[in-house]
Amino acid sequence: MKQATKLEAVTQPRTIERIVTGVPTSDGAGVKLTRVLTQNLQQRLDPFLMLDNFHSDDPDDYIAGFPDHPHRGFETITYMIAGRMRHRDNAGHEGLLQNGGVQWMTAGRGIIHSEMPEQENGVMEGFQLWLNLPARRKMIPAWYRDIPKAEIPEYVTAEGVTVRVIAGTSNGVAGAMTREDTEPLYLDIDLPADSLFSTTLPATHNAFIYVYRGELTVGGTLLGESRMGILANTPQTDGVVLIASGPAKAILVAGKPLGEPIVQHGPFVMNTKEEIFQALNDLRQGHLVDVKYKA
Ligand code: CO
Repeated sequence: MKQATKLEAVTQPRTIERIVTGVPTSDGAGVKLTRVLTQNLQQRLDPFLMLDNFHSDDPDDYIAGFPDHPHRGFETITYMIAGRMRHRDNAGHEGLLQNGGVQWMTAGRGIIHSEMPEQENGVMEGFQLWLNLPARRKMIPAWYRDIPKAEIPEYVTAEGVTVRVIAGTSNGVAGAMTREDTEPLYLDIDLPADSLFSTTLPATHNAFIYVYRGELTVGGTLLGESRMGILANTPQTDGVVLIASGPAKAILVAGKPLGEPIVQHGPFVMNTKEEIFQALNDLRQGHLVDVKYKA
């Protein structure tokens, strides 16, 4: 049996500055989802731009999918907890996102892609997180990586907490992805009843926790199901401590802020309005993407 991972000491845990309730919305061709990180939180949660949570067992909520649409200027990280989604892009890449897998896509200068469900019934559950790129890297070539469940490092603590490390490093375990500019940490944490979990975090990194099953106590505040807790950036803090009285599941996301202007227009996130106009113009004239798009 694999040895339990020892938790690094956290002596000055962060508190919750604000609790956020997601906004029910629909996107793509009519997929129902909850937008947890909305545009008004982009500065506060820099370098993260958006977090959507989708969870439904009603095919009417997801069957329409996300037909062809463009992106420029940032990265999308799609984590499929349950269900199957087919991804295709203009460069001919294709992949199946499923049960516990992650797709990390760098839109860079431009991509046109679709994300369509490959199931007609059953549960579809997961998250899409948008991570910003620094100004000097917004126009890099598009890139993506499909990370199947088996390639996402996982550890178990002595108290039976299971942690999947999608990005960054937690308690000495390096995750599937790293990014130099923003140092993202992305954990999926599954806590049994009466357990405690902690992980270290630089005080200057912006961070939030989203509870998607059960409830958790974080820095003395109870965080209910489907709530996001934004962690205060109090100087001298060294991490975060989660306490579960009943079984709970949550994602923890943290990153180093870029401190650059953010201008979003739909699927484009740039630094200036001029760059947005440029993106719209490039899309219209067919040079948003490197490779000519073929349906
Ligand atoms: Co997309």
